Amino acid sequence: MPRDVRSLLELYNPNNPLDRASTIPSPWYFDLGIAELENAAVFGKTWQAVGRAEQVQKPGQFFTADICGDPIVVVRGEDSQLRAFYNVCRHHAAAVVTEAQGCAKQFRCPYHGWTYGIDGALKGMVEFEGVCDFERSANGLVPVQIDTWENFVFVNLHPDAGSLRDFLGSIPPIVAPLQLTKKMRYFDRRTYTLQCNWKVYIDNYLDGGYHVPHAHKGLSSVIEYTKYTIENFERACLQSSPLSSDSGSEAGVASTRQGRAFYLWIYPNFMLNAYEGVMDTNIVVPLGADKCAVIFDYYFSDISAAAEARNRKSIAVSEKVQDEDMGICDAVQRGLGSRAYLAGRLSVRREAGEHLFHRLLHADLTAAAKRSEAAADNAIPCLT
Ligand code: FES
Ligand SMILES: [Fe+2]
Repeated sequence: MPRDVRSLLELYNPNNPLDRASTIPSPWYFDLGIAELENAAVFGKTWQAVGRAEQVQKPGQFFTADICGDPIVVVRGEDSQLRAFYNVCRHHAAAVVTEAQGCAKQFRCPYHGWTYGIDGALKGMVEFEGVCDFERSANGLVPVQIDTWENFVFVNLHPDAGSLRDFLGSIPPIVAPLQLTKKMRYFDRRTYTLQCNWKVYIDNYLDGGYHVPHAHKGLSSVIEYTKYTIENFERACLQSSPLSSDSGSEAGVASTRQGRAFYLWIYPNFMLNAYEGVMDTNIVVPLGADKCAVIFDYYFSDISAAAEARNRKSIAVSEKVQDEDMGICDAVQRGLGSRAYLAGRLSVRREAGEHLFHRLLHADLTAAAKRSEAAADNAIPCLT
């Protein structure tokens, strides 16, 4: 553990209450040591949403995903068991499954043709006779923990991770009234690439609507900003607001954003946004320290041909909001690199969600740094 990462972690004081708190310090948004630590301590340890349960309903159905650079394949076995593996060939590390999704009886590595069962077992190796001390049964695809909740498939890269249910804590009963599995049908996906650290996007999401009147004029025309609520849970934040439209509201927004806005963030990088009959999820995937992808999956209560135009209009509203957010996030990343900035204060009325995010992150990174330092200290006698 390089000392400078440790000193960067110490720049943040997690014990400050919200009215005294600052954001995490700016180097956390571009330092490569912090990004590496996050990869191990956050993305390598938390439950990560990687896809939708309906993509892997039938035996043989699979999809691939990426967790902070680690390729994963999720597949429903012939025995109906849902499994996940690192999508990394045990021969020379090529990606075994190259399609985004599909249905297969077995997987064949495109590099040298090794084959794996959809249960992960290594079945056949081309031209491998005479190789000594090679256990075929010990060279299957490496398994990863997997579970589902509502419409979503989650995996956890840590072999000793606690259950998804424990991780979600008090969230399931909050989401249950939305009846997602019964009412919502997947419609379409968009993936955006942003020139900012993944945390900039999460911070922007968790500012309690603070930026909405300034950055999203259209959305702002239906959000009842003064009635916006922010509620923190152990590892999640729910933002909610009544919606109302009048003659001043933008028509496309008013017709597709009705009922009550429900914006749920689950640590570290999963968001679920719902209105009446309209929903999208966002997964924020780091692509290095100063770049990330945000995957939007759109769902609607009605995906019939008759609803197509309305659903497209709803996506167009979301795309406009996303465009506005991307401009802000890219600008924030540039500002975070300025020598003029180290950290900023938080609005007590609006930014409790960011405060929670920063404290959770600090706790995970600090614990991992301590473990890593202890391991390094224990290793020193062996080197002498
Ligand atoms: S890397 Fe897969 S068969 Fe060689
Ligand atoms: Fe926004």
